[in-house]
Amino acid sequence: MMKKTLKKLLSLKKNNIGISSVTAYDASFAKLADESGIDIILVGDSLGEVIKGMKNTHSVTVDDICYHTQNVSRGCKNAYLIADMPMNSFNTKKQALSNALRITKNGMADMVKVESTPKQINIIKYLIKNKIKVCGHIGIQPQRIINKKSYKKLGVDETESDKLIKEALMLQEAGVQIIVAECIHSICAKKIKNILKIPLIGIGSGKHCDGQVRVIYDIFNISFNGAPGFMKSMKSKYKSIRDLLDDYVKSTKNFK
Ligand code: KIV
Repeated sequence: MMKKTLKKLLSLKKNNIGISSVTAYDASFAKLADESGIDIILVGDSLGEVIKGMKNTHSVTVDDICYHTQNVSRGCKNAYLIADMPMNSFNTKKQALSNALRITKNGMADMVKVESTPKQINIIKYLIKNKIKVCGHIGIQPQRIINKKSYKKLGVDETESDKLIKEALMLQEAGVQIIVAECIHSICAKKIKNILKIPLIGIGSGKHCDGQVRVIYDIFNISFNGAPGFMKSMKSKYKSIRDLLDDYVKSTKNFK
């Protein structure tokens, strides 16, 4: 297999071939995902929930992201590697650049993902001007939400949908090369995907995006805070990790 490049990801969009992405936080899961042919591995700040066992992503630090991205990079041979810039790591241009450099140089990420607001567009432009590759994140931004229960689909009405389209275009014009769309109504996500020249990767945003991203622990249904509603439709014919562990525990009981 060849290392996935941005050019390759763009060609998948152009040829209407779905882009697959999962999160990973350690070398073993990264290797598992990489060997499955996953296109993008994301070291998400969802690690605050699934690794640290917190209610949200807010406590994640740049040190956490660098540590986990370094570990993931050892198992990620082919997939394109993106890592999140955690909350409060991109408040000023200078701070954003110094943290993005740490994540890409020490952490070995190919690109950083930023949950920016339209008011922070100059910070995004500054990163790009300084040769940092940036992935945008529109729709629900967990860094702005304390309680997951307050998640709701965005872009349902026309005003909100237009606002999201504008935001996506603004990010593309700034030089962002991928956008993640979280919890956006599928019709709005489809409009955005059709307008954008760059890939739109959805999570809880319907099937029309150029690709999909999921938290890997949600796929295995072992997430600390439970999986989001849109994961319910994913039924597997294989044994879950939990079943395998149950089998192991049972096997240890019958040693005689
Ligand atoms: O932090 C994360 O894992 C993410 C994905 C849910 C897109 O941002």
